[in-house]
Amino acid sequence: MQYSSELVGRIEASPTKKLKPIKQALLAQQVQLIDFADGEPELGISNETREAIAKSLKEGHYKYSAAQGSQPLLRTIAEIRHVPIDNIVIGYGVKHLFYSLLQTYCNPGDAILMLQPNWMIYAQQAKALGISVTNCPVRNGSFDIDFDLLEKLLAENPNIRLIVTSTPNNPTGKCLSQKEKQQLLEIASKKELLLVLDEVFRDLLPSGGKLENTPFSENLISITSSSKSYGMTGFRIGYLLGPEPVVSNITQYLYLTVTNVPEFIQDAYKSELQNSARLVENAAHIRHKQEVMEKAIDACTFISNTPHQGGICMFPKISYPNGIDEWQLAEKLMSEAHVAIVPGIAFSYPGYIRLNYAHLSDSDITEGIQRIETYLVKLNQNIRE
Ligand SMILES: Cc1ncc(COP(=O)(O)O)c(C=O)c1O
Repeated sequence: MQYSSELVGRIEASPTKKLKPIKQALLAQQVQLIDFADGEPELGISNETREAIAKSLKEGHYKYSAAQGSQPLLRTIAEIRHVPIDNIVIGYGVKHLFYSLLQTYCNPGDAILMLQPNWMIYAQQAKALGISVTNCPVRNGSFDIDFDLLEKLLAENPNIRLIVTSTPNNPTGKCLSQKEKQQLLEIASKKELLLVLDEVFRDLLPSGGKLENTPFSENLISITSSSKSYGMTGFRIGYLLGPEPVVSNITQYLYLTVTNVPEFIQDAYKSELQNSARLVENAAHIRHKQEVMEKAIDACTFISNTPHQGGICMFPKISYPNGIDEWQLAEKLMSEAHVAIVPGIAFSYPGYIRLNYAHLSDSDITEGIQRIETYLVKLNQNIRE
């Protein structure tokens, strides 16, 4: 008896899964692990939002509702992003909206181009759907886009239908410049592709707290959610902006599969989006944590800061002797130095480590970086001896 579809066979396990048993064993022994791998920002929901949910339930907003989203939330987003309501659809967060886009825009045999390093889920989703992935590494160290390479890869593979990246980026924390976005959009327009910007960290910027809106274009998809910027990961809500046919197709897909995102969750999200004081608080929080990280890394010899602006992670460069397996390094860092990190190799970008820092106390950040440095000093010495 065959219980699984071909899609199930194509679902890849998360590469970080191999570190989980070590982590669980350490936690069971009550070891004080400093966890730079966790991706939950510590920004609990506001009292206003708690009240908004209670009010919403009282008003009976727990019935079936429109697949595209509720009018009050759509209007709020339209105002913030300066786009018509017809270009917006509400879904269950970035992960779900990206998957919905793949389902409704691509066919098996199509390809997507991923700027690397990047969040791993896009590639895992594409592969599960029989869509191939072409990686386009950004320039080493600066993380600037290599446009010559990008154009070459596009020329080589006419099946590419999407260019995908995140800004601020996971893992680097770097934002695309307006010039880079413009250039990407020109290429997308010329080649009749869509540029997908995952802007899940758009409200987590130290300088003023808001990502500059990208002028709307028929080749642009922007996706974001409540998860990171508002610390509401479990609410599972976000929105996608895009050309009307894309929005309309995704709306149909939502109707077919989930009907709608619960309306009281939409009311909660609307309340957070309208709370501009939160943006200022979040910006100050991120700025402070970044400064603690930068200072701790500046004091190191074997870890060095790289360009970053916002979000909840950084991607510093590390020095280690030739021939080291990065997954083994991550395992050893966890079991011997008691720090959890994600190695650069997980993002097809070795020589770096991803550190999520927004949920950690200042003292844990400083201590954690020191533990990594001490381990790297030992590792480099052992090889020299
Ligand atoms: C770049 C990026 N996009 C999206 C997500 C998840 O977003 P959501 O919770 O809205 O699905 C993550 C989570 O780690 C992420 O790092």
